[in-house]
Amino acid sequence: MERMIIEKSPALEGSIRVMGAKNSALPILAATLLGTEEIILDDVPSLKDVEVIIEVLKYLGAEVEYLDKATVRINSAQVSKTEPPYELMSKMRASFLVLGPLLTRLGTSRTSMPGGCAIGARPIDLHLKGFRALGATVEENNEECYVEASAKGGLIGDTMYLDFPSVGATQNIVMAATMAKGETVIENAAKEPEIVDLCQFLNKMGADIKGAGTSNIRIRGVEKLTGCRHSIIPDRIETATFMIAAAMTKGNLLIENMIPDHVHPITAKLKEMGCTIEEGEDMVRVKGPEKLLPTSIKTLPYPGFPTDAQAQFMAMLAICTGEPSKVTETVFENRFMHAEELVRMGADIRTDGNVATIYGVRQLQGAEVRATDLRAGAALILAGLVAEGKTIMSDLYHIDRGYVEFEERLRSIGAQITRVDM
Ligand code: EPZ
Repeated sequence: MERMIIEKSPALEGSIRVMGAKNSALPILAATLLGTEEIILDDVPSLKDVEVIIEVLKYLGAEVEYLDKATVRINSAQVSKTEPPYELMSKMRASFLVLGPLLTRLGTSRTSMPGGCAIGARPIDLHLKGFRALGATVEENNEECYVEASAKGGLIGDTMYLDFPSVGATQNIVMAATMAKGETVIENAAKEPEIVDLCQFLNKMGADIKGAGTSNIRIRGVEKLTGCRHSIIPDRIETATFMIAAAMTKGNLLIENMIPDHVHPITAKLKEMGCTIEEGEDMVRVKGPEKLLPTSIKTLPYPGFPTDAQAQFMAMLAICTGEPSKVTETVFENRFMHAEELVRMGADIRTDGNVATIYGVRQLQGAEVRATDLRAGAALILAGLVAEGKTIMSDLYHIDRGYVEFEERLRSIGAQITRVDM
């Protein structure tokens, strides 16, 4: 079994370049199913999750090839299948994002229900509410665990309200609405940068979308979408992870190929804690202070504090002595599993429902820990960088889903981290 061995590391220094965003690449790859001509995607991160969705596209009939490590050529002109295979769909929730494109392009699609995962039930009711609002007939078969949506005469635009600004539901509905008849308005839509990136990509392909990044997105249906070339935006969560790593290790780190606006909640909080942050057009330099000050965070949909950086931030708060810190998680119902792993490393964290209270300790101790989800794994690695002794982490597949060559890149800025077979 593979294990990550992390040891107490010197201050992280030097520079590191951020990769393309996983959570933008996945919906954009699903959206290529709408295209009838060649599409070239640049800055595609080489991740396990990206490999899975590319397998789904190939299964459905798309031509997909890597032109180089981060450039992918796709042509979906010949796509004809409407039912992705269970064994691929069950590997990764985001493959559910092929439903909207298949429904509007081919008039029907049947996919397995995306399961819940460690961080929550992750229902799909808002996705299905959107498809029904566009006139689709949607069958949810809970016994056989599949969803079938169809609209033989094509989808018809309408106005709909999302009870929660769901990222995935917004993306699935926008993609379905691109070729619906008439106009669609999504109210209380998600405003994440990955929504804006997807809509910019779709408009390059000939879609007619306005308002991406606001709570109201208006889509006017078009006959067909063609092809384009598009570069995936930098990963704001990877950026946040490296910023926090620099802060925790009293480092002095230059983080390049990032978008400062996308990480402003993190920047603001790190400044409150005593960090020095220098922003450039596409870079940020983070200097960690001798002593980090405690603070509190509350995760919210964008532009609030991102839930995907909550675990990493908690690892940092674990060593902020003084007043206790608080972490409130409002997006997912079970996203504190990393807390008990941090407690195994000597952290003093007490959770009560969706609120965690962190009493900072002077020193964490290395321990055997388990990555319970992608971001929890990153958090435990950061904790291992400042803990006395060795931290041995298992379940590394979570890390490989979301971070490109994580340990190699951390080593390049001074981290004592290796991956071994044990
Ligand atoms: C996306 O997941 C991201 N994944 C998640 O990143 C991220 O945490 C999340 O957005 C929130 O920012 C990808 O982009 C591939 P949601 P998604 O629909 O779309 C509830 C990571 O670590 N909800 O905005 O699944 C849901 O239960 C991953 O990279 C409904 O109730 O998130 C949750 O509580 C983790 N009904 C909340 O909305 C629905 O139909 C947010 O979910 C859909 C969602």
